[in-house]
Amino acid sequence: MSLSIKTVSTRPIAGQKPGTSGLRKKTKVFQEPHFLENFIQSIWTGIGGVAGKVLVLGGDGRHFNSQAAQVVLRMAAAGGAKKVIVGKRALLSTPAASNLIRTRGADGGIILSASHNPGGPEGDFGVKYNTANGGPAPESVTERIFEATKTITEYHIVDSQDVGLRIAETVMLGDMEIEIVDPVEDYAAMMAGIFDFAAIKALFRSGFKMRFDAMHAVTGPYATVLLEEELGAPPGTVINAIPLPDFGQGHPDPNPIWAKPLMDEMMGDHAPDFGAASDGDGDRNMIVGKGCYVTPSDSLAVLAANATLVSGYSGGLKGVARSMPTSKAVDRVAESLGIDCFETPTGWKFFGNLLDAGRATLCGEESAGTGSDHVREKDGLWAVLFWLNVLAVRKCSVADLMTSHWASYGRNYYSRHDYEDVESDAANGLVDHLRGQLADLPGKTFAGLTVESADEFAYDDPVDGSRSEGQGLRIHFDGGARVVMRLSGTGTSGATLRVYLERLETDPARFGIDPQEALAEVIAAAEAIAGIRSRTGRAAPDVIT
Ligand code: G1P
Ligand code: ZN
Repeated sequence: MSLSIKTVSTRPIAGQKPGTSGLRKKTKVFQEPHFLENFIQSIWTGIGGVAGKVLVLGGDGRHFNSQAAQVVLRMAAAGGAKKVIVGKRALLSTPAASNLIRTRGADGGIILSASHNPGGPEGDFGVKYNTANGGPAPESVTERIFEATKTITEYHIVDSQDVGLRIAETVMLGDMEIEIVDPVEDYAAMMAGIFDFAAIKALFRSGFKMRFDAMHAVTGPYATVLLEEELGAPPGTVINAIPLPDFGQGHPDPNPIWAKPLMDEMMGDHAPDFGAASDGDGDRNMIVGKGCYVTPSDSLAVLAANATLVSGYSGGLKGVARSMPTSKAVDRVAESLGIDCFETPTGWKFFGNLLDAGRATLCGEESAGTGSDHVREKDGLWAVLFWLNVLAVRKCSVADLMTSHWASYGRNYYSRHDYEDVESDAANGLVDHLRGQLADLPGKTFAGLTVESADEFAYDDPVDGSRSEGQGLRIHFDGGARVVMRLSGTGTSGATLRVYLERLETDPARFGIDPQEALAEVIAAAEAIAGIRSRTGRAAPDVIT
């Protein structure tokens, strides 16, 4: 049955440049006439047309997810796509979407998500295109999409009813096949192939207690199936498990600030042995033991150091990669394992080539993202299962594991200070001013720390030779301390200044200090160099993680 294709005249809409992770805007902006349609049509243009292609489609369930999915289906049909594989109710976590693209040999996928940004009518929405390797489109592709948004004159959409997405079945939309799949099944099967489920089951049987906070977002169904149904954790282990369009009015970002109820429980007298949380679209993770928060940078280092205990990685790691602002904890593990450690710009898309080329197996970012070559996205539940597998084998607490890790490698004290919704001119002014100073900083002393080197990070991709410039200002001090500053590429209002602070401690007597205290000199040096307070008009950061 063929459907009539409507051609709608439109004109370019400003501000459709994909950022660190796809296009993110206020939901209301995405709902403005033609906004979503323009961007989807530009994706089709940017990828050389969608005709004959197979796509994966799903999202994190936030407000506007269902309506946007219907638009994508109609526009894929109008563009002549062969098939779309879509999660039931248009749900798919980001790692599950990445997995489906890879295992089904799809040409790419569209993920409807603004990740950890709040959802709802007043919240944020987002659209991201992933390529055939399952990973976020590289800059060459996002650039082409952006170019298309600047010249668009019309888009094409079929005239049809909404497609029912409530049952796993295959239906047709005109000549295009739509396969509606259970969003969890394939993902759960992949996890069972990587981790030793028998060992984790035995851990739960021995009375090990865990709390997983799905933060009313997409990982609820995944965590319930995996942890409670397959691994035998008691019912109630997963909380806030039903995805809600506004994430229960919360901010589904798994860190000590936004996952405070979980943090409070884990720091309390009756804390479970292990706590974890994930974000809106299921790619981030937070790991916390009884009385012991694990920074994402440390988590990456611990997983790398213990990887061979897990059957999926028993052959060893080909290499590791971290984003530049992520702490250097994993570098020390890589050094001792004798493997490469790559430093990439912020954003998961930069790991894709290293994973595809077999140069790295594990990668991670300080922003609660950890992953491996099993997919081409960071993966929240994967990280949680990895930790459970390691704890099941090592039979020790999270706190003991951290103490022994630091004893071997030293402790990289680390913190990120975010100044949110800063006036754009002020934020750009701060960065421009600092950039102008970089060359003169070496040799100067600030708050007792002497600058060893200072530069603006640029990345030369070792696989395809592409160069990405302007990826953050970094200042190294004598003794290994470091400050990095960059502006966020995922915000939807004003500018967010991120200040990343780090210092290595090798004296075991000093492993138990509060990170803000341990970093006091580095924090003071950052302020002295950049004048953050006066330039942003803020007395303190909005969020400290
Ligand atoms: C933030 C994080 C970055 C992550 C991205 C997408 O980007 O800092 O590590 O890859 O979200 O989850 P930013 O807002 O800093 O550009
Ligand atoms: Zn996310």
